[in-house]
Amino acid sequence: MTLIGSDILRARGLLQAGKLVAIPTETVYGLAGNAINTRAVTEIFRVKDRPFFDPLIIHTDRLEKIRDYILEIPGPLEELASRFMPGPLTILVHKTALMPDLITAGSSKVAIRIPDHPITFELLRQLDFPLAAPSANPFGYVSPTSAQHVYDQLKDNIPYILEGGPCSVGLESTIIDFDQGQIQVLRKGGITVEEIEKITGPVQVMERSTSRPSAPGMLDQHYAPSITLTLQPLQQILSQYSPEKIGLLAFEKGHPEIKQENQLVLSVQGHLTEAAQNFFHHLRELDKMDLDIIVAELVPDKGLGRAINDKLRRAAIKSKNKLA
Ligand code: TXA
Ligand code: MG
Repeated sequence: MTLIGSDILRARGLLQAGKLVAIPTETVYGLAGNAINTRAVTEIFRVKDRPFFDPLIIHTDRLEKIRDYILEIPGPLEELASRFMPGPLTILVHKTALMPDLITAGSSKVAIRIPDHPITFELLRQLDFPLAAPSANPFGYVSPTSAQHVYDQLKDNIPYILEGGPCSVGLESTIIDFDQGQIQVLRKGGITVEEIEKITGPVQVMERSTSRPSAPGMLDQHYAPSITLTLQPLQQILSQYSPEKIGLLAFEKGHPEIKQENQLVLSVQGHLTEAAQNFFHHLRELDKMDLDIIVAELVPDKGLGRAINDKLRRAAIKSKNKLA
């Protein structure tokens, strides 16, 4: 049985006993376990049905606390960390032998992050080990941005979901690597490329997994709902499907030819921050409807919009493969 509650002590006790707890963060909910306990980490992969080649992010409340597990943080990453941590930023740092290879899928670098959420921050403060926490969704599915989302998919598989309200950012953390003197954005997320470049100057933004097979997290087929999602123009889809079976994920406004209840708008005022907060929730709502296809509109390709568009493109690729 899975309980939902805001009892930090209970969550702490379960994690200390090697059990898993879903935790709120500002980005998305995570499926957390003791990163140094192999049984707990193995259980994370099992519950998520995630392949072992896809590494996990380590969560802590202070970088000093995990210094036994990592080597020196390169200067440019240190600069970003001091600006954006706690926050939706993850950095890749060389690990020591004390950090299990299971966490990093054999890579010599480990991904680390300090979440900016009061409940989870306090939980981490009370623990003397870091937490491994992927997003708390089955592998390849849309990330959860509320305790209810986690419950809907992982109930009966984990003992406790720590309630922390809806996620304020709504998109996963931005993942940054520093390789051969160059800052690379491996995953676009809650900290925008523009914000990073303000501090570091121009960075390299990785667009597709094929350009970096060593970063399994950049798998193309990600974040997809079960119903086929397309980025093709609505007019084209209207000629192929019956209108009442078409769902629309719109940026600012709906469309008169689509049933009112089948269209969800990300931000009536056209704000990308609000669009990000609503993004995964709206995709889930559309996925529950009796539809043949979801038509999604790309949002303005700047700031958080770049991360949203990236996820939409991946979801569309997955759908295309499903049709093939
Ligand atoms: O916002 C977030 O980052 C959320 C919350 C819960 O913190 N976590 C999250 O974890 O999104 P996950 O596992 O769903 O996505 C982490 C991504 C994966 O795609 C993984 O491949 C990549 O980070 N990653 C983790 N460790 C890595 C490493 N050592 N090298 C390259 N990529 C790594
Ligand atoms: Mg994930």
